[in-house]
Amino acid sequence: DWSMENYCEIAIEQLRQKIGDKKVLLALSGGVDSSVCAALLSKAVGRQLYCIFVDHGLMRYKEGDEIEEIFGNMDVNFRRVNAQDRYFAKLKGVTDPEQKRKIIGEEFIRVFEEEAKKVGKVDFLAQGTIYPDVVESGLGGQSAVIKSHHNVGGLPDHVDFEDIVEPLNLLFKDETRRLGTLLGLPDFLVWRQPFPGPGLGIRVMGEVTPEKVALLQKADFIYREELAKAGVDKGLSQYFAVLTNQRSVGVVGDFRTYDYTLALRAVTTDDFMTADFARIPYDVLEKISSRIIGEVQGIGRMVYDITTKPPATIEWE
Ligand code: XMP
Repeated sequence: DWSMENYCEIAIEQLRQKIGDKKVLLALSGGVDSSVCAALLSKAVGRQLYCIFVDHGLMRYKEGDEIEEIFGNMDVNFRRVNAQDRYFAKLKGVTDPEQKRKIIGEEFIRVFEEEAKKVGKVDFLAQGTIYPDVVESGLGGQSAVIKSHHNVGGLPDHVDFEDIVEPLNLLFKDETRRLGTLLGLPDFLVWRQPFPGPGLGIRVMGEVTPEKVALLQKADFIYREELAKAGVDKGLSQYFAVLTNQRSVGVVGDFRTYDYTLALRAVTTDDFMTADFARIPYDVLEKISSRIIGEVQGIGRMVYDITTKPPATIEWE
């Protein structure tokens, strides 16, 4: 009879047989799938697993530290690469969204390859591919790899490995979450909302600078905190703040200000192909607005996005 406990035991046994005493490499993004994949492989082969977490500096507030805290204390070889400076240098002066995506994706491959070299010869590359990814690719497991870390396509070309392991490729998303909980991962990881590979790089509109990212991180954190306090976050599929490139005039006391406009987005959806904007109560929005304006210097105006998808996308870029 089928249970997640059984599945987990069998998967661990199969991984042990396949991997033996060899090394496995995993690109850990901190998303649900790669996290559960890491936790499962940790139970199966422990420190034969090498997790590489590339911190591009475009994560949400303190998220990089949270990931390090969890996986740094797990029975795996964990390495966080602080690649922020490299990414910001590459993104300097770039304003086109697709260009930003491309740069962030390519830089990821480059950093990952460099780190993989330091691990030495690896025999297996692990992927957190889940069943819907396999189906989507239409060609079975191997090609689902294309939909890798940043969903921009392409395996690292210069990492040598013999074979791929995809221990989640029979699971749906809800099953993947259940497995994560069973393996002891905390709820905030297991129930994480989707987060795009390019991260805040596509939520800072226009040029991405460390200063703008820091502003957005603070504002987005307050937004999420207040939604959670009000208990409305559970009903939302995805919610985040966007730092627009638009400044507008304001007055604070006797002074005229000229600060950025922040947009709040919150949607409900089943499949992310279409989406409705969430009806967040006005009093919750009021609290969020007064806190962000009061606490985040540099943001002078806030708007709430009331467009559905289509015609608007969920992200702003
Ligand atoms: P849109 O904005 O197209 O978003 O309505 C649909 C879903 O896809 C996510 N998204 C991305 N995920 N890389 C990703 O890994 C990307 O470049 C990217 N762009 C959008 C978005 O967050 C939403 O969940």
